[in-house]
Amino acid sequence: MEATLERTIRERMEAEKARTSPPPDAVAVPPIPTERYTDPGWFELERTHVFQGSWLFAGHASEWPGVGAYRQFSRSGAPIVIVRGDDGVLRAFYNACRHRGAPVTRDECGTAKRLTCQYHSWSYGTDGVLKAVPDARSFADLRTDDLGLVPVGCEVWDGWVFVNESPERPSLVEYLGPIADQMREINGTSMRLVGTQSHHLACNWKLMVDAFLEVYHVRTVHPDNAALLYDDQSVTVTMLPRGHSRLTVDKRDMFRDMPMVSPEYDNPAVGELWRQTSTSYGIFPNLVVPMDTGAFTFLCMWPVDVGHTELELRWYAPAWEGDEIPADHTGRMELFETVMAQDTANMGPIQESVSSAGARPFQIGWHERLIHHFQRAVDLAIGSDRVPTTHAVSDALDRFVEPA
Ligand code: FES
Ligand SMILES: [Fe+2]
Repeated sequence: MEATLERTIRERMEAEKARTSPPPDAVAVPPIPTERYTDPGWFELERTHVFQGSWLFAGHASEWPGVGAYRQFSRSGAPIVIVRGDDGVLRAFYNACRHRGAPVTRDECGTAKRLTCQYHSWSYGTDGVLKAVPDARSFADLRTDDLGLVPVGCEVWDGWVFVNESPERPSLVEYLGPIADQMREINGTSMRLVGTQSHHLACNWKLMVDAFLEVYHVRTVHPDNAALLYDDQSVTVTMLPRGHSRLTVDKRDMFRDMPMVSPEYDNPAVGELWRQTSTSYGIFPNLVVPMDTGAFTFLCMWPVDVGHTELELRWYAPAWEGDEIPADHTGRMELFETVMAQDTANMGPIQESVSSAGARPFQIGWHERLIHHFQRAVDLAIGSDRVPTTHAVSDALDRFVEPA
């Protein structure tokens, strides 16, 4: 991390530890209406404008290991296939044949020279170009050049693959802004997938995102693990442009320089600040990435419907030899399940509470302001003219957004 930024974060952590009242620049955080978590109409707005209009995490480039490797991706709500072309480039397309709409692959993943529709066998190159039409003699004026698969935005940054359905999207690097620079330190291109874990939650996706944007709950919910490791009084947060964020909390002295996995599977690219603190990036809309010295987990909150969410953890680590997953990594993943079980246990009951007649707008603290920042970015993605006043969050914290 850049030295000035590192110094600033360390100074801010010390100031946070020392204060006995809200910092001088703190303001009351405006309330967050609970309709945002329960209204199916609002959920549809999010689907359309947030999930179909943002860069969404799809995996690591190594998960498409060679030419013709493809994987389906349906997290934005639409069927998409991501495929590595003959030129090595990853591209995404709607998984919909230009003949009569059938999927051009039904397999979740695989490798193919061509994507061939299983309805009438139109086939497409890995670049999406229509290559063959059986019985072409029966189609008058067939313009195969105009009948390629419909493309979707797909970009790779430092090994990480993102997809964006919107035709009016910024480039991925522009979207990530300062995070692109700051996260490059983990040397993403050298990573490979360790494994995935999935939790099915009876709550709105934003309730789970909110939980990863504060450490206020750590003492209550994680008394036997995270609370022992981190000094929650040091928490230092930064609201970054486009709803992104950074949260840093100091480790307690006895754990400060301990590798998070093991010395053997330590990632040497990771600098001191991330070893001595827990720093996590919130990448709008639904991704949280805690920095780490060994394996990195990409926590994705995927909406299923207004009251259900899949929390997907995708673990990555610097590539190792052989096919077997090192026990140090699997052990770490199992351990993390304990923490996740504590986090997720609250979610269903909160959803029930916010769906009841007793629901009232959330009153959060200044130290939790990343939640407000994230929620405000949801409104901005939906567009203020579409946001009902009953559901809107205030713009009062916009002036606290920092360029880095
Ligand atoms: S729908 Fe694909 S070939 Fe007919
Ligand atoms: Fe937690």
